[in-house]
Parts: sequence; C-alpha cells; structure tokens
Amino acid sequence: MPVRNAVRQTAGMDYRGDDSALQRAAKDHLWMHFTRHSAFESAGVPMIVRGDGAYIYDADGKRYLDGLAGLFVVQVGHGRTELAEAAAKQASELAFFPLWSYAHPPAIELAERIAGYAPGDLNRIFFTTGGGEAVESAWKLAKQYFKLTGRPTKHKVISRAIAYHGTPQGALSITGLPSLKEAFEPLVPSTFRVPNTNFYRAEQHGDDLEAFGRWAADRIAEVIEFEGPDTVAAVFLEPVQNSGGCFPPPPGYFQRVREICDEYDVLLVSDEVICAFGRLGEMFGATRYGYQPDIITCAKGMTSGYSPLGAMITSDRLMEPFLSGTAMFAHGFTFGGHPVSTAVALANLDIFEREQLNEHVRDTEGDFRVTLEKLYDLPIVGDVRGDGYFYGIELVKDKATKETFDFNESEQLLRGFLSKALFDAGLYCRADDRGDPVIQLSPPLICTQEHFDEIESILRSVLTEALEHL
Ligand SMILES: Cc1ncc(COP(=O)(O)O)c(C=O)c1O
Repeated sequence: MPVRNAVRQTAGMDYRGDDSALQRAAKDHLWMHFTRHSAFESAGVPMIVRGDGAYIYDADGKRYLDGLAGLFVVQVGHGRTELAEAAAKQASELAFFPLWSYAHPPAIELAERIAGYAPGDLNRIFFTTGGGEAVESAWKLAKQYFKLTGRPTKHKVISRAIAYHGTPQGALSITGLPSLKEAFEPLVPSTFRVPNTNFYRAEQHGDDLEAFGRWAADRIAEVIEFEGPDTVAAVFLEPVQNSGGCFPPPPGYFQRVREICDEYDVLLVSDEVICAFGRLGEMFGATRYGYQPDIITCAKGMTSGYSPLGAMITSDRLMEPFLSGTAMFAHGFTFGGHPVSTAVALANLDIFEREQLNEHVRDTEGDFRVTLEKLYDLPIVGDVRGDGYFYGIELVKDKATKETFDFNESEQLLRGFLSKALFDAGLYCRADDRGDPVIQLSPPLICTQEHFDEIESILRSVLTEALEHL
C-alpha cells in the first residue's frame, strides 16, 4: 500500500509505536526545520499530537511539560477551544482576502487594538505571516523611508553578536550567527555586528552592570561613526536577546541606545518576535524597559500559535511619506494579516485581558527566578538569567573559572545527552549551543509554582546525570 494511503487510513487511529504508518511517512517525506535528519536513522521522530494547558502529549500518550511554549509561542497554553472557535467562525464567514488595497474587519480591529497597546506613537501596523518577514519588512521600510525623505544613502543595519533575527535572506543577514549564515553566503550586504549584553562573560566592566551596558551601547555609536552616519539606516535589537541564552539589557542600556539613534538619525527596531505579548509581563518588551522604538517587529505570541501571524509596527512619522501621490511600500505577503489569524489574535488578546496574563507574569516571575536559581548548587550551572517567563541557564565545565565546553564536549552534552534526556524525563525545552551551551526556558504564561517546581526538579535530576556523560 502506498504510504500516502496508509497514512490516510491510519491517521487519527494508529499513530502509536515506532513502526506506525505516520512514523514511516515522517521519515520518508517530512523535511523538518533546523533538524539533523541523521538522528532519525536509529530513532523515531518525536511526534506531538495533543496539548492541554501547559502540557503536550506524544503519540504514545506520554505527557511533557511544555517548557518552551512550543517555540516561544503558546502564551495562553494549549487546548483553548475558544481560539479554535474564533478561527472556525472567521473561516466560515470570510476565510481569505488579501490586504492588498482591500481590508477586512479582523485585520482592521487588530491593527487598532495593537496600536492601543504599543508604546508611544507606534500606531501603524503592517501584518506579515511570521517574525522573519516582519524583520525583512522593517529593513525594507527603513531603506525606503530614508530614500523618500532625502537621505537615500542610509541603508546599513547594525545588530548584535549571536542574535537571531530569522531566516529570509535579509533577516539572516541581520542575524549575528556566522555558523547559520555560512551555507547561504553571499547574503545581503551592509550589516554590522556590535557586542551583545552578555554580562556573565563581559570582557569590559565585568564588575559594574551599568558601566557595561553603557560600554555595549556605545559600541553602536562607534560603528555608526566608522561606517558613516549617512549610510546607517537602523539598529535591530531584541529587548532580551534570546540566542546565547537570554541577555536582559543592563539598566540604562536602551536609554543610551535611544540617545545614539536620535543623535545619528538611525531607526531603533525592537525585534520582539519573542519578547512581545506577555513574555516579559507587558504587551511589549520596550514598555518593560522603558524605551521608545521607531519600529517593533513581532509574531509568535500574538496568536499564541493558534494561527500564524506577524507584524511590523511603526508610527505616523514613518508612514507619512507613503501617504501621498504615487508613493507606495511595494512589499507584502499573500497571507500577511490573514483573516483567520487576525480573528484568532483578537480572541487571544481577549484571553490576555480577561485572565490578566501580563499581571500574572509580573506577579510570579520572581518565584520562577527563585525556583530556577536553586539549581545554582549544581556544579554545571554557571548562570541563570532572564526576565519574565523567559530564562536561559548557562552550563559550564568549571564554575569558578566559567570555563565552557569545547565543540566536542558540547556536542556530546547537548545533542548526545541533554536534549533527549530532558524530553525523556518529561520536559520539552531547548538545549542550545548557538553561543555558549544553555538551556532555554519560556513556558506558557499560565504556569504557576507547581510548573516551576516540576521544571526545576527535572532539570536537577537530568543535569546531575549530565556530568557523568562527559
Ligand atoms: C528575535 C527573532 N526575530 C525573528 C525571528 C524569526 O521569526 P519566524 O521564525 O517567525 O520567521 C525569531 C524566531 O525565533 C526571533 O526569535
């Protein structure tokens, strides 16, 4: 029987066991993202079939705590039928219409609602289908804005080392991870890297957080000066940088960055694909740290993942040159601002309001931190850092010297042992070595102390075992 038929006949009935039809079809046909497929030569493809609250369930019915909210996405938790119903209602009313010279009510309502949440003068919403497209859109807007306002040479972009901004070629160019870019070079030229705010590994001012922040921000001014202010369009920064393992901004960092951007007429883009929609206890990370971006890029949590959606948020000032005559932002996506996704986002934001999820994160984030910090008694835990419901735990070989693992040890530890062991122990999270080895945690915003304790207890037992595997 062709596999396709086998799947059709068995899907929904028989997806259990390593030799199920779906398991075979996954190996034969599904190309997964950022995945080493060689891993499945000798192992099954982990298959998640159901979610409920903070938990997900695999094909064999085993339960896991979703310590990453899918992929920094499922803010309101799994299994919310009201979001499924909002999607069904919109699909039966108007399943699709593009935002290309026409509009539809859910996109309009969502734009107005987001404008109400966004900091300061940010009130113009350009929808995309995801985060990388939002980043791509922001760079293109910055370029065209300066062309239309008489500064046509401003086009370069500054971003931070080890930061991830997405996979489209523009967004990938802005990404500060050479290993992710190598295979696709040459990429879009004109992007430049500055240091991130990894205070744990600060090479300067390691004993003074504020001075370190000031130093890191000033590197942006240095690059602008070096490249020429007339050539620099924008700086892309996450409120808390994810890649490398959660680097929150030192006090004063973003205020200094804002000053620099104002001085050199450079746009400050706050890439909040992860940090927006409650991850840091506010609708936007910029609000939490008290700075005013010129553009925000966001996605993921806007719909809690019940349907794909992203956005670039900007102001009247940046849209003004596009409002008269023949001017147009010749940019868009068929599915950007999809009716179903925007309807789902509205229903998702209703849940945020009704259940006061931002307040909940602000009230309980201290407990999450204290619970994770208990892990400091393990010799492998070097640093626990983050804010809100967004944490990175950096693993070290030697706590006293902060010595990290070499490439082979990291392979052995993260890929060879940790990722699988954590999953087997019932915790879905991410062991990542795009910078130094870290465990990333970003649970649904509905989590409470019992979930924090479960995360801590699984991490404790698996990390204790991890050292024996080196
Ligand atoms: C900060 C940041 N920007 C952009 C992206 C790309 O988003 P997407 O995968 O939706 O294209 C991500 C994805 O994780 C991200 O974390």
